[in-house]
Amino acid sequence: MAEIVAVDPLNPDPNIILKAAGILQSGGLVAFPTETVYGLGADATNPEAIRRIYAAKGRPPTNPLIIHCESVDRVRRQCVTQWPETAVSLAQAFWPGPLTLILPKTNQIPEIATAGLAFVGVRIPETPVARALIAAADRPIAAPSANRSNRISPTLAEHVADDLGDRIAMILDAGPCRAGLESTVLDLTTDPPAILRPGPITAAEIARVIGLNVASHDLYLSEKLAHAAPGQSRVHYAPAKPLELWLERQPEIAEAELQDTALLIFGAGMGRRAFFAPEVLILKKVENSTEAERSLYATLRAWDADPRVKRIVVVMNEVGPFWAATRNRLSRAARVIHR
Ligand code: TXA
Ligand code: MG
Repeated sequence: MAEIVAVDPLNPDPNIILKAAGILQSGGLVAFPTETVYGLGADATNPEAIRRIYAAKGRPPTNPLIIHCESVDRVRRQCVTQWPETAVSLAQAFWPGPLTLILPKTNQIPEIATAGLAFVGVRIPETPVARALIAAADRPIAAPSANRSNRISPTLAEHVADDLGDRIAMILDAGPCRAGLESTVLDLTTDPPAILRPGPITAAEIARVIGLNVASHDLYLSEKLAHAAPGQSRVHYAPAKPLELWLERQPEIAEAELQDTALLIFGAGMGRRAFFAPEVLILKKVENSTEAERSLYATLRAWDADPRVKRIVVVMNEVGPFWAATRNRLSRAARVIHR
């Protein structure tokens, strides 16, 4: 079993950090907190260590990893061969923080880390624990979310232990993640830059900093999927229990059978019926997008583990830009989308 070690989120004990860094330096796996979700770390320059990440997660080798550094200097020295003006501005504005930049990779980053791509995703995480760990290991650290492949990303150390406790050496536990959803992934190799995964940093915030509009390749909310059927392969980040997503106000929800159902309502409105529906097993309402991002994964994991819950229904009323990342993850978690 993994050793679960509590660390102070702001002032991590240097001895604990050194021990964890030693595991990374010898090719082992350490889960650590970032501001988005817990990451499963390995030495990004060691192909054998990277292979262990894919094996522990059961992750397909076609899915590239994000490389984490504690400084722009390390990003430029060891990870990327280009550092355009857009990267300068974005790093200054948002790093450390939940923004991943895709740029051409160096030879120090093996192809197994990027699924054979000539481009690498890099970011500087915000938590002092993560940055101290990377600095002590003195190398870039590859870290996907520390969940088993296709499961919900972990926002607590317990989530990591549930998924990977029997497969990794150590879990650093610094409590809940501040942001709760994975970083925004921005491709800087295209013109204009393109968001590949929406996240806590919005398209508008990026556009304001680089003075350019960005493209968005968020396929998951496209019209093609309007009538998504159960079992489609786009399903990702999913709870084990069936999750239905109701987009915007749907009169039919009022007719739905809601017993054995945990109902999560994001945004204002739509819920009057639910509040008066005695058969709703659990009702949770979140009106603030930041809180929605922070709590989504922990809520889904808790309901997945609650034997009373047979079905999860999420009502999403909001379409504004601050809700884009939550909508994206929900649409990937849903077996059925009603719109
Ligand atoms: O917030 C996060 O990004 C968390 C924490 C741990 O940093 N990490 C994370 O990693 O979410 P992961 O592996 O669960 O998701 C990484 C995603 C990939 O699925 C892919 O979509 C994108 O980032 N990505 C990584 N490298 C890429 C590349 N070279 N080209 C295009 N997309 C890439
Ligand atoms: Mg992931």
